[in-house]
Amino acid sequence: MAGARDSSVPILRFLVCFLFFFFTASTIFYLEWWNVWKLREPPTPMVPLPPSSWTVNTKGRLGNQMGQYATLYALAKLNGKRAVISPQMQKTLGRIFRITLPVLPHREALQTPWLSYLLEDRMKEEYRHIPWKYVFFHGFPCSWTFYHHLRDEILREFSLHAEVREEAQAFLHRVRKGRGHGITFVGVHVRRGDYVRTMPKKWKGVVADGHYLEQALGWFRARYPNAVFVVTSDGTAWCRRNIDTSKGDVVFATRWTWRSAEKDMALLTQCNHTVMTIGTFGFWAAYMAGGHTVYLANYTLPNSKYLEVFKPEAAFLPEWVGIPADLSPLFRDQP
Ligand SMILES: *[C@@H]1O[C@H](CO)[C@@H](O)[C@H](O)[C@H]1NC(C)=O
Ligand SMILES: *[C@@H]1O[C@H](CO)[C@@H](O)[C@H](O)[C@H]1NC(C)=O
Repeated sequence: MAGARDSSVPILRFLVCFLFFFFTASTIFYLEWWNVWKLREPPTPMVPLPPSSWTVNTKGRLGNQMGQYATLYALAKLNGKRAVISPQMQKTLGRIFRITLPVLPHREALQTPWLSYLLEDRMKEEYRHIPWKYVFFHGFPCSWTFYHHLRDEILREFSLHAEVREEAQAFLHRVRKGRGHGITFVGVHVRRGDYVRTMPKKWKGVVADGHYLEQALGWFRARYPNAVFVVTSDGTAWCRRNIDTSKGDVVFATRWTWRSAEKDMALLTQCNHTVMTIGTFGFWAAYMAGGHTVYLANYTLPNSKYLEVFKPEAAFLPEWVGIPADLSPLFRDQP
């Protein structure tokens, strides 16, 4: 009998704990539900919606969001609509650029009867005639085919805040010291990070290798004997091992704070020319710097699914110079 009573104590304790947990969880659930419900309820009085406004999703990091912003800007203008952006996009882009599109507050966005519209990554005729008043674009559009006719306006939207520009110029000034005048700055962006794994694994492709960078730098060395290469990357250690610095014309922009991606972008746009590898970040650095651009071309196998969404002719400006990638590492591990 005593044994039976003893064993009922843990069960009782368990029951009390369970009831307590159940009670707490359901209270939290009800409060949350009430909150969500309250949020969805139209506020009184209704905020009058503007007669029409278009917006775009806020996805990815700096380069992707720049593409989304520029595409929205151009499509809204083509169709005579007002463009608005999310608070997150304002936060990402507004930190370095003097963007002007108004922000749509969360609350107002929730009440708007958006029509969801998926964009491909290139301009299409139908995008010139979108009849709806409230359009929410989805996707990762970045192609110049959307906005190149508005290039000056896009560059104005993405002009740097004075202090960001000054910091980049101060860096270039230090590089210039002791090298005399008439230096040509070539910004080099080497995208690595997650792509090092996903390009071969998922997309039957490669990222830029040391040989590509040697060829790309060579292209500029042949044309600008006074070229200095300013290298930025999310894999600086790899760059230091794989870029030949023996000629004394390569400097690495070391990442000094967690906000380095923005500083890298600012720095690259202040250079005269660009060497890019892959990704939207490098695209924007090149597009904004102007000058010559050398890019990595044909970096996937022809049957890669990557090419179903990525159209090279809509991604690279026709006057840019492509250097084909070495795809042989993709065959090396085949049985
Ligand atoms: C090259 O870039 C530097 C730094 O931004 C700038 O001072 C210089 O005027 C540029 N040169 C040309 C020819 O645009
Ligand atoms: C990439 O491949 C296409 C198709 O084979 C070819 O026409 C193009 O010239 C190549 N680009 C470069 C830069 O080699």
